[in-house]
Amino acid sequence: MPGTDGLRVFVTRRIPAAGLDKVVDECDAEVWDEPLPPSREVLLEKIAGCDGVLTLLTEKVDAEFMDAAGSQLKVISNFAVGFNNIDVPEATRRGIRVGNTPGVLTDATADLAFALLISAARRIIEGNQYVRADRWKTWEPLGHIGQDLCGKTLGIVGMGRIGFALAKRCRGGWDMQVLYHDKHRNEAAEKELDALQVDFDTLLAESDFVSVHTDLNEETHGMFDAAAFAKMKKTAVFVNSARGPIQNQRDLCDALRNGEIFAAGLDVTDPEPVRADDPLVELPNCVLVPHVGSATVSSRNGMAEIAADNLLAGLRGQPLRHWLNPPQ
Ligand code: DGY
Repeated sequence: MPGTDGLRVFVTRRIPAAGLDKVVDECDAEVWDEPLPPSREVLLEKIAGCDGVLTLLTEKVDAEFMDAAGSQLKVISNFAVGFNNIDVPEATRRGIRVGNTPGVLTDATADLAFALLISAARRIIEGNQYVRADRWKTWEPLGHIGQDLCGKTLGIVGMGRIGFALAKRCRGGWDMQVLYHDKHRNEAAEKELDALQVDFDTLLAESDFVSVHTDLNEETHGMFDAAAFAKMKKTAVFVNSARGPIQNQRDLCDALRNGEIFAAGLDVTDPEPVRADDPLVELPNCVLVPHVGSATVSSRNGMAEIAADNLLAGLRGQPLRHWLNPPQ
């Protein structure tokens, strides 16, 4: 097997040992060991002369990044399934291999999407704050009323692995009807979950829960804007565990504040982290968590292993385990 000895790599943050140990054992690796990412300036200095870089979604990997690394750069291994932070066509043009980490975070992310859905529908965070603020004085027949889940309609935008996993939970556990909007037909979802492919407007109008699982690209950027929220039911719950810029945050805020939709559950914001003065932070009908969809032991270990294997394979000139730009 071709070796990786002496090949230089930069790892932009400490990742689980399940992957990091392999990288450190097999190459000349520098690991950024701070809790916050390196500044752009420092990042570009650190990657100069590297043969491989293991990146996170916090790093913008563009032509400037690749120029700064130099023409010996062989592989960019992203510790994420999403790769909107990477200019993959530019990497392909330069012959740089790019890898990601799909599969291992599907269940964890679907679970988190469901947690957001039920928390927003049943006002769990509001209730928790109410109790902690010592405002619970009696049982209230008209208080804390939320939305039912059983037998409702779930609209999935982006019926890939994670969308399917959420739909499976909601169909199997809560007998929901499943609608989906996707460029591609998902026959397994139609067969196993009786899911129905519909256009975007139909999904918005008919769903009680709308959950976003598409990738971020030019078409999906800002697709949840004022016009989209206006088409949703006033009782609807919006969930986004994909990427923040898919929602127009100001429009979402207005829709939540004006009662155009019932509530939202967000694992992702635009920008990230959400700004402390963003009005979303103050809205009681918005559940916010800090991009933790894949934050379970097995998911993060799995991501680390795949990211390390992708990196090492790229350094050796071998096919990546999950290769975003294989030769056509
Ligand atoms: C991903 O993998 O793309 C998530 O957003 C982070 O785990």
